[in-house]
Amino acid sequence: MANFKVKPARPSPPIVSIEPTVSPIITRRSLASIAAIAERASNMLLDVRESMLAPHPRKRSPLYTTAQVAALCRIDKGRVTYLTTKGELPVGTANGSGKSKEFTLAEARQYVAAEGPFQPRPPGVKGKKIAIGNFKGGVSKTTTAMTLAQGLTLFGRRVLLIDLDPQASLSALNGVLADSEVEEAETVLPLIYGEQPDLRYAIQETYWDGIDLIPASAALFSAEFYLPFKQSKDKSFRFWNILNQGIEPLLDDYDAIIIDTPPALSYLTINAFMAADGLIVPTPPSALDYASSTQFWSLFSDLSTSMQEIVPDLDKSFDFISVLLAKVDQTQAATPIVRDWIQKTYEGMVLPVEIPTTTVTQSASAEFGTVYDISRYEGSLRTYQRAREAYDRFSELIDQQIVALWTAAGKE
Ligand SMILES: Nc1ncnc2c1ncn2[C@@H]1O[C@H](COP(=O)(O)OP(=O)(O)O)[C@@H](O)[C@H]1O
Ligand SMILES: [Mg+2]
Repeated sequence: MANFKVKPARPSPPIVSIEPTVSPIITRRSLASIAAIAERASNMLLDVRESMLAPHPRKRSPLYTTAQVAALCRIDKGRVTYLTTKGELPVGTANGSGKSKEFTLAEARQYVAAEGPFQPRPPGVKGKKIAIGNFKGGVSKTTTAMTLAQGLTLFGRRVLLIDLDPQASLSALNGVLADSEVEEAETVLPLIYGEQPDLRYAIQETYWDGIDLIPASAALFSAEFYLPFKQSKDKSFRFWNILNQGIEPLLDDYDAIIIDTPPALSYLTINAFMAADGLIVPTPPSALDYASSTQFWSLFSDLSTSMQEIVPDLDKSFDFISVLLAKVDQTQAATPIVRDWIQKTYEGMVLPVEIPTTTVTQSASAEFGTVYDISRYEGSLRTYQRAREAYDRFSELIDQQIVALWTAAGKE
């Protein structure tokens, strides 16, 4: 056998050339073979999830230091230390080195409830329903829903998340894998089919104290066939009001119910919007996202017009509609220009906060989480602080809005 010498490594050419003698490989795939691909993908995702969402199989919420608990309560660290000795609030756990204390999220929230400055929901006043919508994908609807829920719980609120997107990203952020773990019966579908009078059956606890979840699965697509079908058979069927009715009995138990919607004007999205007291539209200041946001409003306007035609006595208004500048990339030259268009177009509706594009949540494991899931960030502290402060401020603005509405409702 010839003795080949190994050549010294050379930088590889930028374009890979294909040997002319090799014919391209054509791999036909039958529809039937898709099932095998789907199974491989789903098994792979399970493996990935097992390794990422340690400890098996659920996510775990972060631990809080004494200083962090004090910051959440807007009080001095010394006061928290003092309170740990009084016997009414959790004493915390000595951390690794034994020098300082750590508190679980549930313990931290006990401190917030006892010591925080947040006005509780007045007795007899119902929680507020907030839908997150935009017909474009990737604008951070799901991230906004999750971070808002987490942010509100750190003000002592109790939140229910409803995942209406068949892609189930919000469920995934809560450590729930749609395909393998969510039965159709655990989603909103039994309510949609009229098999359940309200959504109580579907509420699940999550890894995050203060957040409950109604998960989604791919089966939610069937609502898009069922609702128009039922409507065509029964003209009195109020296809847009099913979710609203299903949520109604839950409003005494939650301060906020946050609904994540799919990136389409689907029947489920219509249900979310018609149920919502408040609507938040995340809009990144990029030209393309701005362009599709204008389509969102024109479709939404068509919907409103036809709803008023179908149901002349429909009495629907929103307590608030807010545009959230999201995924704001300061390094893009177009950002200030498009931000200006957004400010002009949606005057009076743009929240006075911007969510920066951040690398904080872009590491692989954090893709299954948000800024609030990170207890010890390994990158630059400033990067983390900037993102965290933006999300905190956003949650605070919405919380103030909710409290103002509660106060108004209490006076009625
Ligand atoms: N502030 C942010 N900075 C960087 N990436 C973000 C930010 N917000 C969301 N993302 C990422 O953008 C992608 C789309 O976000 P997602 O919330 O799923 O949007 P949508 O629900 O509108 O499709 C996700 O990969 C998410 O992690
Ligand atoms: Mg989404």
